Amino acid sequence: MNFERLPRHVAIIMDGNGRWAKMRNLPRIEGHINGIESVRVVVETTRELNIPYLTLYAFSKENWRRPEKEVKSLFELLDTYLDRELPNMLENGIRFIAIGDIEDFPENIQKKIRHTMEKTKENTSLTLSVALSYSGRTEIIHAVKEIIKAVKDGKLESIDEESFRMYLYTKEIPDPDLLIRTSGEKRLSNFLLYQMAYTEIYITDTLWPDFRKKEYLEALLDYSRRERRFGIVKEDSSG
Ligand code: FPP
Repeated sequence: MNFERLPRHVAIIMDGNGRWAKMRNLPRIEGHINGIESVRVVVETTRELNIPYLTLYAFSKENWRRPEKEVKSLFELLDTYLDRELPNMLENGIRFIAIGDIEDFPENIQKKIRHTMEKTKENTSLTLSVALSYSGRTEIIHAVKEIIKAVKDGKLESIDEESFRMYLYTKEIPDPDLLIRTSGEKRLSNFLLYQMAYTEIYITDTLWPDFRKKEYLEALLDYSRRERRFGIVKEDSSG
């Protein structure tokens, strides 16, 4: 496929696992299990295309309100995913980072997350960020509190966009150029609220477990055909 322009950072709200399972009379967890395969395919394709940043919304703060059994199964899936994918991350230069309130998770999961981050921290071909116990509003409030502390301690003099972003969980990564949301919902759902001020949005009815290479390439092609203005009017060559 010929892309005129690829995003530098793709963010994805992976939605529709539950509906995918329901349509097949399967337990919800089966949707998540099949969703993991989509994660694998999307990570691999991102790397193949040399897109340097990918951020996946895997578990929101609101998701804690789901039935305990489903939450536990999601932890187990994450745990297995990290075990299984670490060799692949090391082989392919993938750096793993978690964004969100990791301390909300059980100790063993926190350990696994930190271990994966530590082992992959020198990798440079793709930064895979996974949002875990993440809330955009909580992130902004956290940043404000840290900034107040820094100002009080005399470590920060002026607050502007450049200094503010250094207090976000995403301080090491650029803002997303493209947001993909699967399963047709037209909401941001508290994801990267500050970072997505100028992000292009692509919504597809495809449910996440069905979102594979072909669907991902379609989203990227759609993006590559858009013109981004950042609020600026393009110069009119006709005079
Ligand atoms: C949304 O579907 C999906 C989630 C809340 C979980 C996404 C998690 C995974 C794909 C697995 C873990 C991820 C990684 C990176 C290892 P939903 O359950 O809200 O679907 P519904 O809206 O149809 O009910």
